[in-house]
Amino acid sequence: MAETERTDDRYSMYNNNAFKLGLFGANCSSGRAITKVPERWSGNWPDNLALARMADEAGIDFLLPIGRWKGYGGETNYQGETYETVTWATGLLAATKRITVFATVHAPLLHPVFAAKQFVTADHISQGRFGLNIVCGWNEGEFKMFGATQRDHEGRYEYGQEWIDVLRLIWQSDEPFDYQGRHLKLEGVCADPKPFGGTQPLIMNAGASPTGQAFAVKNCDALFSTPRGAETIEELADGIQHAKDLAARDGRKLDVYSVGVVTCRPTMEEAKDYHRHCIIDDADWDAVDNILAMKDISPETVGAEMFERRRRHQAHGMGGIPIVGDPDFVVGEITRMASAGLRGIGISFVNYLEELPYFRDEVVPRLERVGLREKRR
Ligand SMILES: Cc1cc2nc3c(=O)[nH]c(=O)nc-3n(C[C@H](O)[C@H](O)[C@H](O)COP(=O)(O)O)c2cc1C
Repeated sequence: MAETERTDDRYSMYNNNAFKLGLFGANCSSGRAITKVPERWSGNWPDNLALARMADEAGIDFLLPIGRWKGYGGETNYQGETYETVTWATGLLAATKRITVFATVHAPLLHPVFAAKQFVTADHISQGRFGLNIVCGWNEGEFKMFGATQRDHEGRYEYGQEWIDVLRLIWQSDEPFDYQGRHLKLEGVCADPKPFGGTQPLIMNAGASPTGQAFAVKNCDALFSTPRGAETIEELADGIQHAKDLAARDGRKLDVYSVGVVTCRPTMEEAKDYHRHCIIDDADWDAVDNILAMKDISPETVGAEMFERRRRHQAHGMGGIPIVGDPDFVVGEITRMASAGLRGIGISFVNYLEELPYFRDEVVPRLERVGLREKRR
């Protein structure tokens, strides 16, 4: 890849694909499918490496990991085995040529001076293909593992603001600087080298609340979101437009990405059968219930009907729009997502390595034909 000084090239992931496709969650065991089926995702390194190389070859735009420190229990201990995401990204960037690889970082758990240096290292190794996905966190148990106190919701973003201010200052300042925030008090901060090619990594914030959106509007190039409770593309569309309007009001451009939980098979029936088999008949319901309990969602708090709805939706992982069907159906749904204003989606499969080839061969060419992807040579 030629050295570039064009930040826009980074944000378009060095290609002209109108709609970006990524893979989300492969750094965790079971990925994003809370299922007991034996072919569920291993999350181990050989599989991650093979997947990254396959995705790179296939022209997939990005890999996006989940920041996870503790499993969710159940028979499978859902997401009990995970790779730390900056080192995961760095290893995969070193082994690939074109694909952008994100780290998903809990701002409160990683000191910004250390973080800025790590990100620049990954960015130089990959010649500008490192991306940052910030999460301010929600899982109390994970914070306790670090001896850290989870701030209240607004406080999390207040800290996140200082964290990203310091990060940007480090990347931009040629002179040592002091920083006096409410939370961070730093002296004589300096760090070289700067990110690759005089540009800065693509930064997105994963958050769904209005405060999370505002944080992305102010600080980030993209918002990675599944607007609360959105289970359909129509529900998603309102949230996307709202975030973009907020950015436009500040004279900024904000890309919005979301999550697609894809089951694609030659026929609608096969896709629906497999989806039902994994996500309902053989779901790891104990893990699902543990996750819901952590969010204080129970029949008592939300009512029996809503609880059952949330339960079924949760088995797809932590949110996301299920896209279940044959290749034409999947392309139709992705086209609707693009029309709703999404810049791209992070896709999850039950088994990424086994399912990506069919998606690559049957869905991607159709997306090229409808103009959402560049024609590949
Ligand atoms: C699309 C999306 C992806 C997320 N990914 C992670 C993750 O990988 N790890 C994590 O701990 N939290 C993740 N979160 C949860 C955020 O940490 C959590 O939402 C945070 O508190 C932001 O708050 P908000 O959603 O209320 O704005 C994600 C949230 C969204 C919407």
